[in-house]
Amino acid sequence: MMQEYAVGITGIGSYLPEKEVTNFDIEKMVDTTDEWIRTRTGISCRRVADERVATSDLSTEAAKRALADAGIEAAELDLIIVATVTPDMAFPSTACIVQSNIKAVKAAAFDIEAACSGFLYAMTVGQQFIKNGFYKNVLIIGAETLSKVVDWEDRNTCVLFGDGAGAVVLQRVEEGYGILSSYLGADGFNGSALAQPGGGSRIPATIESVTNKLHFVKMDGSEVFKFAVRVMGKAAMEALELCGLTLEDIDFMIPHQANIRIIDAAAKRLKLPMEKVYVNLDRYGNMSAASVPVALDEAVRENRIKKGDIVVLVAFGGGLTWGSSVLKWSK
Ligand code: UT7
Repeated sequence: MMQEYAVGITGIGSYLPEKEVTNFDIEKMVDTTDEWIRTRTGISCRRVADERVATSDLSTEAAKRALADAGIEAAELDLIIVATVTPDMAFPSTACIVQSNIKAVKAAAFDIEAACSGFLYAMTVGQQFIKNGFYKNVLIIGAETLSKVVDWEDRNTCVLFGDGAGAVVLQRVEEGYGILSSYLGADGFNGSALAQPGGGSRIPATIESVTNKLHFVKMDGSEVFKFAVRVMGKAAMEALELCGLTLEDIDFMIPHQANIRIIDAAAKRLKLPMEKVYVNLDRYGNMSAASVPVALDEAVRENRIKKGDIVVLVAFGGGLTWGSSVLKWSK
């Protein structure tokens, strides 16, 4: 049988734009209240990138921090994968732009689009190359500037999202540690519940498409809510089963940060007290593919996770998609 290597996160970093937009700021833009946003979502504030700042800029800063944390040079990277729904442009990929920014001269580079589940998809794909011995050093980034594609006149969506980036370096780790299992899934049949319809080959940009706001995020909030509550707990349990662990083994959970009510429901289903669940959506809102790596980075920096802990990452998002990974923390 072909040799397989244990793969884990050996470096992690994140980067958030400085500008904060509070619920009170949004009260001045659309018909909403701080109270509604806090009680229905758990969000109080979000970061918004400057007009001239794109997803690759946030990605580049997060990448530098993850590389420094891992103690490797960009030139040693074999592969860069960026998970995003807000690439700088259709092509070149954001991963190629990051490659050039950090001078990762020998790295292959491509983007993955699985919306808010993107980081888990990208990490699972990147992991395979190290597991089978093909590559040694892989950089995975989850990054978004959703502020550029939300309609700041639509109260149903503009209150929810924020900008940011998180990155991890994947390498071989001690046997028995690292990514123990991953579970990915998709339901393309219900994809229209969350979409940005304009700007692709179906509805290319025209004056009409712009006037009709087809380049903004469209969401059926309650459909996505119901799907999320269903899928979060299930995805986590499937990943646990794949590596032979049970709910009692979970030391910490990093859920996608979309809505505190969705996180509460998932925690209940998994019988986890909220002390074991990381929440930062009050400060950053929903950063789509960046939510999980930014939350993981903060949890690590706050010493909430120690070597040997069983950590469950779980996300859901547009596509519809979902993903979960079980890690035995190796640092
Ligand atoms: O990463 C994946 C991305 N998306 C999500 O995770 C979103 C998942 N869905 C949700 O988080 C929730 O469904 C929302 C937060 C979007 C909405 O909460 P809800 O409890 O499901 O509210 P609702 O959709 O049932 O709407 C209730 C009311 C509606 O008014 P009417 O029709 O009952 O008169 C909305 O128009 O709340 C209204 N509403 C607002 N009111 C004040 C919607 N947005 C706002 C707002 N401020 N910002």
